[in-house]
Amino acid sequence: MSLAPHVWPVTATVAGGRLFVGGCDVVALAEQFGTPLYLLDEATLRGAMRAYRQAFAAAYSGPVRVHYAGKALLNTALAQIVAQEELGLDVVSATELLVAQRAGVPMAHVHLHGNAKSDAELERAVAWRVGAIVVDNLDELARLRAITKHLAEPQGVLLRIAPAIEADTHAHIATGGETAKFGLPLAALEEAVAQTIAAPGLRWLGLHAHIGSQLFALDQVVATIEVLVAQAARLRAQFGVTPVELSPGGGLGVPYTADQPPTDIPRYAQVVSAALQVACTRHNLPLPRLTVEPGRSIVARAGVALYRVMGRKGRRWLHIDGGMADNIRPALYGARYSAVLANRADEPACDPVDIGGRYCESGDVLLREIALPPAQPGDLLAVATAGAYTLSMASNYNLVPRPALVLVGNGQARVIQRRETEEDVLARDVPLGGDNAGTTLWRD
Ligand code: LLP
Repeated sequence: MSLAPHVWPVTATVAGGRLFVGGCDVVALAEQFGTPLYLLDEATLRGAMRAYRQAFAAAYSGPVRVHYAGKALLNTALAQIVAQEELGLDVVSATELLVAQRAGVPMAHVHLHGNAKSDAELERAVAWRVGAIVVDNLDELARLRAITKHLAEPQGVLLRIAPAIEADTHAHIATGGETAKFGLPLAALEEAVAQTIAAPGLRWLGLHAHIGSQLFALDQVVATIEVLVAQAARLRAQFGVTPVELSPGGGLGVPYTADQPPTDIPRYAQVVSAALQVACTRHNLPLPRLTVEPGRSIVARAGVALYRVMGRKGRRWLHIDGGMADNIRPALYGARYSAVLANRADEPACDPVDIGGRYCESGDVLLREIALPPAQPGDLLAVATAGAYTLSMASNYNLVPRPALVLVGNGQARVIQRRETEEDVLARDVPLGGDNAGTTLWRD
């Protein structure tokens, strides 16, 4: 078997029949830390962050900020790496914001997103002085105006628009359509800007849009930038205000299987920068600060998931010790992945098999029709491109503790999120007390 190079981490190699990532023998890691186990390859992660910064610095003439979209995967160590690499961080909850603070990400480089932020979340973001709150709708704006009314120093605000552009991706992850749940319809934008400018506690920074995730064709991203700039020009004509910042969101696609093209960050930077520069020239607007928000294309490829093969059923099924509770993407989006047997990585593949997850649902099939060497219980399955929207969407279905996450690089492995214990899982479980404790209706 050979590893499709653009799907696995940059450090992935096979030696003596075993898969190595970050200089570590993954078979040994599985023994040391148990399975299922998620690995994060530091070189791939930092490489993607640097590629974004360098590509945009080269392609865009104005100021640029690259914000990692923490929803793809977030913990304190990862946020510390984000800060070390001088990226900003996008968060969507109070706890993600707390992680940003614990990691020392400068608050001026943190944006709070979300279509249904609570007052407590808005209050924390305002108290900690995040760089921008990305306002999604007029009701949120009204609450934010009330929260910020007595501020001495106004809170920065970006207004998220729904640009009425359908991205070419899975319907569940397309977010830019006219009827999408996210963002202000263009018809509501004037009112939102008028209210923001009039609010003493708010400072209008500019406009934001995000049309979807796992995008390969960039035409709709270009169209989105044209809408952002045209709206900015219209607002300037009407209110005399010029945006200092525009953001076309994130969404660059990554390959999960060998037949998909590699992620081309320099091309993305060129297309986005050129579109913004051309549109600003056309509308005679000064170049704003450009903020991009990649999540998946920073962290997906750095991740590898390891599962133990528990058994087989006939020629078709292999059962593993993880599945939809640690990676719901195949069940939710029909997502496809690549995998190898990590302990027999140089053996030829035979007939394709389906990989059944351990969770009690027929839909818990992690991979379909994947060609592997004939597998036995005890073999180790390694799944590529497992860094994004896997652990961050994990659940405790069937009360199974969630896996650990280990950062690997230069032959070293460090746990950055420990495996959940049974005590963790039951920590919120409150038995009936008092008179109800121990009562039963059973008579025999
Ligand atoms: N900015 C905003 C406002 C977003 O909503 C998102 C993702 C991003 C940036 C980052 O997008 P990315 O570069 O990661 O594509 N669970 C789905 C993906 C949901 C994406 C949600 N928003 C999946 O597993 O495919």
